[in-house]
Amino acid sequence: MRAVLSLLGLLSAAAAQTQPALNTSDITIVKVAHSGNGCPQGTVGTSFSPDRTTITLSFDAVQLWAGPGYTSRDASKNCQVQLEMKYPPGWQFAITKSRWHGYFQLPDGIRAGFYTSFEISSQDTQVANVPTATLNGTDTVTEQLFNAEGAVDRELGSMCTPRSYTAGVSDRLLVRDRWSLTRMRSDAYTRDEGWMDDLPLTQQVELRWQACKACSQCF
Ligand SMILES: *[C@@H]1O[C@H](CO)[C@@H](O)[C@H](O)[C@H]1NC(C)=O
Ligand SMILES: *[C@@H]1O[C@H](CO)[C@@H](O)[C@H](O)[C@H]1NC(C)=O
Repeated sequence: MRAVLSLLGLLSAAAAQTQPALNTSDITIVKVAHSGNGCPQGTVGTSFSPDRTTITLSFDAVQLWAGPGYTSRDASKNCQVQLEMKYPPGWQFAITKSRWHGYFQLPDGIRAGFYTSFEISSQDTQVANVPTATLNGTDTVTEQLFNAEGAVDRELGSMCTPRSYTAGVSDRLLVRDRWSLTRMRSDAYTRDEGWMDDLPLTQQVELRWQACKACSQCF
């Protein structure tokens, strides 16, 4: 038994040797660009968790209005955030989830929808969608804390590069967000300040890092 266990130990040590640990310091976001009527320049913040599994986007200026005097453009805004990621050869990331966090003042009779899709466009363009998150207004218009999480409908994998390619890998991740308000009753309308409180709306994008499988030269 002891011999079998030590043999297993040797085998797993050998396996571990062929795949060096992922050094999270080598994973960086090298460039961020954003566009859309929901994110004027300079209103999107980006941060990366120390373990590199969560990208947090903060939107400072996503204000929406619905009601008499407002147009459909006031009730629907969008933002595309493009992130250029750099990471070690032999590794790739998969996108798994998106999570919203924010404070709203939304009256009863108004429903807010949060729409997200991700795109990785290195080899082919791959798209994944997150189910729409919904927030219903309440009859007492006080601050509502909104937390919603959704898993992607398919997991996208980023580009893989052989370990011999020492320059590192860079790949682009596009996050497409859209927010919209729907009036469920004709007498429902947002307050003059809009649907959100002053705090930014944040979105967390969850990633999973994995050793490349598709590329035989990667190990
Ligand atoms: C991890 O990467 C950083 C930056 O490239 C480097 O300074 C550090 O020595 C690496 N750590 C290990 C354990 O390889
Ligand atoms: C919002 O309200 C509709 C009915 O008015 C309901 O079907 C839906 O489940 C509600 N959504 C949430 C997230 O509470």
